Amino acid sequence: MKNIGVLTGGGDCPGLNATIRAVVRKGIKDYNYKMYGILEGWRGLIEGTTKELDMYSVSGILPRGGTILGTSRTNPFGEENSGDPERILRNIKALDLHAIVAIGGDDTQGVAYKLFKMGVNVVGIPKTIDNDILCTDYTFGFDTAVNIVTEAIDRLHTTAESHNRVMVVEVMGRHAGWIATFAGIAGGADIIMIPEKPVDMEDVYQSIIRRHKLGKKFSIVVVSEGVKIPAADQEKAGFVLQSAKTDAFGHVMLGGVGSILANLIEKRTGFETRHTVLGHTQRGGTPTAFDRILSTRFGIAAIESIHKGEFGKIVVLKGNEIMSVDLKDIIGKNKTVDDYWYDIAKVFFG
Ligand code: F6P
Repeated sequence: MKNIGVLTGGGDCPGLNATIRAVVRKGIKDYNYKMYGILEGWRGLIEGTTKELDMYSVSGILPRGGTILGTSRTNPFGEENSGDPERILRNIKALDLHAIVAIGGDDTQGVAYKLFKMGVNVVGIPKTIDNDILCTDYTFGFDTAVNIVTEAIDRLHTTAESHNRVMVVEVMGRHAGWIATFAGIAGGADIIMIPEKPVDMEDVYQSIIRRHKLGKKFSIVVVSEGVKIPAADQEKAGFVLQSAKTDAFGHVMLGGVGSILANLIEKRTGFETRHTVLGHTQRGGTPTAFDRILSTRFGIAAIESIHKGEFGKIVVLKGNEIMSVDLKDIIGKNKTVDDYWYDIAKVFFG
């Protein structure tokens, strides 16, 4: 009987529990694996904190947001963590883990790849609301986030219309504008601002003014948190940050661009403007049916990969097919919004 570990790393997102359920059920039912949950991402493997997952322990978790295993942004290869990779290797040996399923975004998969190069049998599953992982059409979590933002835009439309206001909606996505673009298209945004496209504030002002001259009394602006504000429009050009701190993988804490934009728009256009930051609501709660199905397919494919002895891989969605690609092909770079999607969104600007 082989022991298999499963962990969730990085920011949580809807669909993690659905994935854990699929991995555990497939592993036990089809291959008689003994399944272990590794607690709080890579930290659990450094500290050796695990719990056995049987069929009963994953019952009822399919619709639940968050992760029953906990998560963290632990980087065993970070500068302050010397000795952690060796601790991980020791724990893998002590727990007699044949393979590890790493459910996570770019950072988690980067660690998985480094461990694979050190001889660990790993298979990755791509998760993130940001949808910024290369080689997969979609990550799970993204569809749920898009639906949450779309509903928020629908709600903001009615209040914006009643008060003749401009509404600025700030959404997550880090350095990729997928959530803003998809939810903006689905919600009928009048302007969508994403990190992939340079900001021209004069364009934004003129577009809103033109709209209002044509008789529209409100506008909805969706802005991605990773948009850089040009120097002319705020004291310091660049990202708007919540704090000067960075996480274990060197990421800055984005947030606040919506409020700056709302002030600029109100000052320059004279239209009353409000902003809304959707923040972590985009990551909470139950996954959509699409995300539950994608999570389930990914979980099952990861176990199949282990059964076939295919390691150093990540399962991905291409078209409607689940396949796997080498981990080395997806790490270190982000998948960003291409012109195909932005051109669709642009038709509805102004
Ligand atoms: O990567 C997912 C994400 O939600 C990003 O969209 C966002 O920038 C970041 O995580 C927020 O991280 P934290 O959970 O540390 O606030």
